[in-house]
Amino acid sequence: MDVHLEPSSAAPKAPPAQMEPIMPSPHAAPLYRDQVMDTAPPTFGVVGCGRMGSALARLLAAQGFGVLLTSRTRRSATELARQVPHADAGSLEWLAARADIVVLATPIEVTCAEIAPRVRDLVGGKAVIDVSNPGFAPRPHLPTDGPPAAWAEATTMPGSTSFAERIAALLPGAHVVKALNCVAAKRVAGVGEGGAKVTVPIAGDHLSTKARIGVILEVAGFDIADAGPLSSSRWIEYLPQLLLRRGMEAPAGLSLDGIGI
Ligand SMILES: NC(=O)c1ccc[n+]([C@@H]2O[C@H](COP(=O)([O-])OP(=O)(O)OC[C@H]3O[C@@H](n4cnc5c(N)ncnc54)[C@H](OP(=O)(O)O)[C@@H]3O)[C@@H](O)[C@H]2O)c1
Repeated sequence: MDVHLEPSSAAPKAPPAQMEPIMPSPHAAPLYRDQVMDTAPPTFGVVGCGRMGSALARLLAAQGFGVLLTSRTRRSATELARQVPHADAGSLEWLAARADIVVLATPIEVTCAEIAPRVRDLVGGKAVIDVSNPGFAPRPHLPTDGPPAAWAEATTMPGSTSFAERIAALLPGAHVVKALNCVAAKRVAGVGEGGAKVTVPIAGDHLSTKARIGVILEVAGFDIADAGPLSSSRWIEYLPQLLLRRGMEAPAGLSLDGIGI
């Protein structure tokens, strides 16, 4: 039987499928990197000054970016601002109004319930980086050989959405990018100091924002992997769980160095 893959000449030709442009990489597009790095350097606003927020604030300041800081009590933000060059501390609203790129380095439940409603009207058109992971703790006694239901009950399974998409829904005008969640804070602190580069999957629907963040992170010393649209966060958010689990069970069986846990 003949199989016709081509439409008949009478049928109108469909336009070629639109492919998502591949994120420019500094390696592939040095001109693009120069363009990003030569424009006025953005000021970052880091919300949360715990392990991840403080490591990122130090890294960004070392790159020469201005860094605004805030935290729940503001004590940790003020203390960190004293130690980090080009940094200043203030309220959440102060930060959201002034920063060009906002980094949400707070527990995801706090981000959704407390932070997002307060910054919603202040971050329209801005890049917002979500670094969050599902709350999980290492559980050495997880069942590994029982029925799947036992495993599913004992751990958190990926759902039909992601934290990054929830944040995007709560901040409708913002350009949300998922990045850096697969890197442990202690690895952020060592980025750019030599050794294996840490791979950072990055996802987002606003392509120029994703490209810009990718270039900034790559210049800072990360290896960037474009994971596509923001919905890819559904998988990226569970990657650390996989890496931690494999790391606990078989430290020699899976190289964790390239990923950053
Ligand atoms: N730790 C890691 O290795 C790592 C790696 C990848 C991703 N992440 C993600 O990074 C995020 C932060 O994790 P972490 O380990 O850095 O947590 P953490 O050390 O517990 O720090 C949490 C920070 O959030 C601040 N905070 C809490 N409620 C707040 C509020 N209402 N307004 C403003 N700030 C508030 C806290 O302020 P105070 O200082 O005033 O208490 C603290 O500075 C999480 O989403 C996590 O999944 C962490």
